Amino acid sequence: MRETETRARGAYVERFGGEPEVVASAPGRVNLIGEHTDYNGGFVLPCAIDRRIAVAAGCDGDEVLYSADFGEARPLRREDDSWAKYPRGVLWALGEDGHDAGGFRAALAGDVPRASGLSSSAAIEAATVLALDALFGFGLDKKTLARICQRAENEYVGVGSGIMDQYASLLCEAGSALLIDCRSLEAESVPLDLEGAGLSLVVCDTRVERGLADTGYNDRRAACERAAETLGVQALRDATEGDLERLSGEELRRARHIVTENARVIRAADSLRAKDFEVFGHLMYASHESMRDDYEISTPELDAFVETARKNGAPGARLTGAGFGGCAIALMPSGSTGTLAEACLRAFADRGFERPEFYEFVAAAGAEVVG
Ligand code: GLA
Repeated sequence: MRETETRARGAYVERFGGEPEVVASAPGRVNLIGEHTDYNGGFVLPCAIDRRIAVAAGCDGDEVLYSADFGEARPLRREDDSWAKYPRGVLWALGEDGHDAGGFRAALAGDVPRASGLSSSAAIEAATVLALDALFGFGLDKKTLARICQRAENEYVGVGSGIMDQYASLLCEAGSALLIDCRSLEAESVPLDLEGAGLSLVVCDTRVERGLADTGYNDRRAACERAAETLGVQALRDATEGDLERLSGEELRRARHIVTENARVIRAADSLRAKDFEVFGHLMYASHESMRDDYEISTPELDAFVETARKNGAPGARLTGAGFGGCAIALMPSGSTGTLAEACLRAFADRGFERPEFYEFVAAAGAEVVG
């Protein structure tokens, strides 16, 4: 068992005084390329990270959720705006889908940074749904479980996200990225051999509250829908570069990002298969520029990280996730993360930005039942 899984199990034993019947865990994710394309029926290429949330669960006893990280217990069947809304949302969405889980109790423990854009909420949902699937013997496949988690997020938690985060958390494989076609919901693992290429995946959490994330996210979605309507296509996935001539202003800028980003994801997956990280890196920079100039979801902090990474020899860097704050990623020559972090700390301090956090992640396994 991993450390988080051992902690969840230990918290269960300590809190409830018996062994859990199931322990499951699920990772956070970073998206390598393909931003805001998921709700446009397009392509994304995330990988799971080696930070997880574990859920230890059992059927007997009180219906209580206990978080070892927050050191608090909350009733399973009540509504409040806390960490407990994610497992509750999963229970609700399972029921809506016709899978009635009985009562249960669970202890949770995790090490996915919260509110950073690394999908800690998808990790809780994925770990919970997998634990409940095992506990009640539903026998659902991981794609179905991911859709149930997305429903929990959209309709119970009330965040209008696409399918990427839940798919990534459930379906990613160690050492691979996951190419997802968000229309057909087909997913294919693509080897991500960073170590073999002498590279590391560095994540910079700019610590900028993603305050605008909700409104900005919904505005972008709405603009994409308007652009698709103007073009007479079902979604921007179906638009071509030639179609862009028929758009102007905001619709043009948003649609241009989506159309070019989808093309970049396909090329990026090909370059990963060919182990061509130079091409992959160029695509990352191009993706960032498109998000900065056309989709307008970057911030001065995210731009500063990408520029500093470029100056310090990164083959590629870009903001990752919804934008408006949160995290950016860079591919760095192995062993040079410290140099990049120092250069960034100076650049951020000079400009009066918050002190950022840095992480180095490896592409880890998706959600698993481990005990
Ligand atoms: C958030 C959402 C995802 C996706 C990204 C942007 O992470 O949860 O569904 O839309 O933003 O690519």
